[in-house]
Amino acid sequence: MSKNISALSFRKGIEQNYFEQMVAAAEASGTAETPETVQRLADEYLVGDAITLGAVSAYDFLKTENAGKKVHLCNGSACLVARTQHGLHDTFARHFADDEIGHICCLGRCHEGGAFQYQGRNYSGQSADTIANLCQGGPADDSDTYRTGSLLPEPILTAPFPGIDAYYAPFRQLIAGGDRDALFEELKLSKLRGRGGAGFPLSFKWQSCREAAATPKYIVCNADEGDPGAYIDKYLMEHRPHSVLYGMMVAGWFAGAETGVLYIRHEYPDSVRIVREAIEALHGAGLLGDNILGSGFSFRLKVVKGAGAYICGEETALLASLEGARPEVRVRPPFPTVEGLFRKPTIVNNVETFANIPHIVAHGGAAYAAIGTPDSTGPKLVSLDSNFATPGCYEVAMGTPLATVVNELGGGFRLPVKAIQIGGPLGGIVPVSHIDSLTVDFESFKKAGFLLGHAGVVAIPADFPMIEYIEHLFQFTADESCGKCFPCRLGSVRGQELTAKARTDAGYRIDPALMRDLLHTMQSTSLCALGGGVPLPIQNALQYFKDELQPYFAADL
Ligand SMILES: Cc1cc2nc3c(=O)[nH]c(=O)nc-3n(C[C@H](O)[C@H](O)[C@H](O)COP(=O)(O)O)c2cc1C
Ligand code: SF4
Repeated sequence: MSKNISALSFRKGIEQNYFEQMVAAAEASGTAETPETVQRLADEYLVGDAITLGAVSAYDFLKTENAGKKVHLCNGSACLVARTQHGLHDTFARHFADDEIGHICCLGRCHEGGAFQYQGRNYSGQSADTIANLCQGGPADDSDTYRTGSLLPEPILTAPFPGIDAYYAPFRQLIAGGDRDALFEELKLSKLRGRGGAGFPLSFKWQSCREAAATPKYIVCNADEGDPGAYIDKYLMEHRPHSVLYGMMVAGWFAGAETGVLYIRHEYPDSVRIVREAIEALHGAGLLGDNILGSGFSFRLKVVKGAGAYICGEETALLASLEGARPEVRVRPPFPTVEGLFRKPTIVNNVETFANIPHIVAHGGAAYAAIGTPDSTGPKLVSLDSNFATPGCYEVAMGTPLATVVNELGGGFRLPVKAIQIGGPLGGIVPVSHIDSLTVDFESFKKAGFLLGHAGVVAIPADFPMIEYIEHLFQFTADESCGKCFPCRLGSVRGQELTAKARTDAGYRIDPALMRDLLHTMQSTSLCALGGGVPLPIQNALQYFKDELQPYFAADL
């Protein structure tokens, strides 16, 4: 059935894609989940109304329950541990009815430890004046400023942008007479690995799509950065958008694709605007369109705005979303490089991954691989939340001591901290005692039983109850599960119930065997790394914060 939906969606192509029609309907009337809208969309796209309803009901910002909401407060992990959510809610409760206040996860203002969205714009939650002004219909400052910097002698991802002409000079040379085999050799030499979490080798992925026979092919940029604590992709899109677009254009030239799509999350309205402006500028410079600069290479870029579903960061769910299907994870193989968007060969890479490509094209793979460690090459951006003294988004070479990031870039913690969670809700919980033994690279984290992931960092204060943090992780998974497989769909809810009960009912203790069994089942039988990944930080917490958690359990942990 889902192959039929892909084929029906392909008829209208990416320009009139089904998902965008759903989003447009919700923007016009507050929800796409009404019988009239569902029927109209289903008729237009020849997709059944049950399929359409299944799709729209999966997104926070298409659902009926969102229709009356006037303001959305960030409830991500960084805002949770900053303990600002209740205060913010109380402030808004003075201006809005309770059912007009919704939640959103996460706005990528983790450096502020409190944020909200109002009439499609994001604001800091720190200023009571901002809120009062807005509620009285006045103007308010929505700027998002944070520290940035690089420890590299010559910054790559944070390097100043020299203007389109200079920046795209190597790209112009590439499409004028470049050799794809030679580029493949450089990509292999660079040993660049994906930055979206899994660290998959880029050259292998690109070559697989290049070799796929079917056409057309697509390049998709995964800009759904949903990990609370991460604002790395947001930084790149809002401050270095051309690095990302350049990377996608090279991918298109290499693999033989003529269309690139950036799937940018709803929660980042500025990223959507700035990337669209950058695409316009490229058109103006003649670097997008048909037969670019007479090279024979044609390429177009399109931005699609998400609608509030964390699972759309998982690449197959993202592709299903773009097709207007319910964003459920698809079984692999076939991999997207063979059967991706509309079941056509597709390269899906993370924003930060694409942003590394201009440097490789300009300076070669060996120069790139000289940065970092032998197996984790190149630079990495890390983002630090508001519990650091100097939060921000910083560039380091892979292999940099984590202590350097925490103490030098982050300036240490601004309050006593017991652990950091790095890599989002599926990343490890690292006790502060382990910070000195880790370096920022895939291997160091994996060897120590953690996960680098996308490298957004949330510092958990010493007085923040670990049982509450575990409950938050289960709750997040329950809220965001695509529901396709039982271990995740049911296990996350059961986990949330167990921890909530132990936390609030003095007479109840969790059976540790039951918890271990639950975590093992989720880890070993979930289809994707949402249900399969969340047990890792919970196991870290149970291991390193045993004494604190023991009172909530009925037997020895
Ligand atoms: C639950 C889940 C959420 C994910 N979220 C993101 C995301 O927000 N951004 C991202 O680039 N990759 C995310 N990924 C990883 C993607 O599935 C995919 O591996 C990635 O986009 C590939 O790009 P890369 O090779 O450049 O890392 C997620 C994976 C899972 C299982
Ligand atoms: S693990 Fe969760 S999110 Fe992943 S496929 Fe299963 S239900 Fe969907």
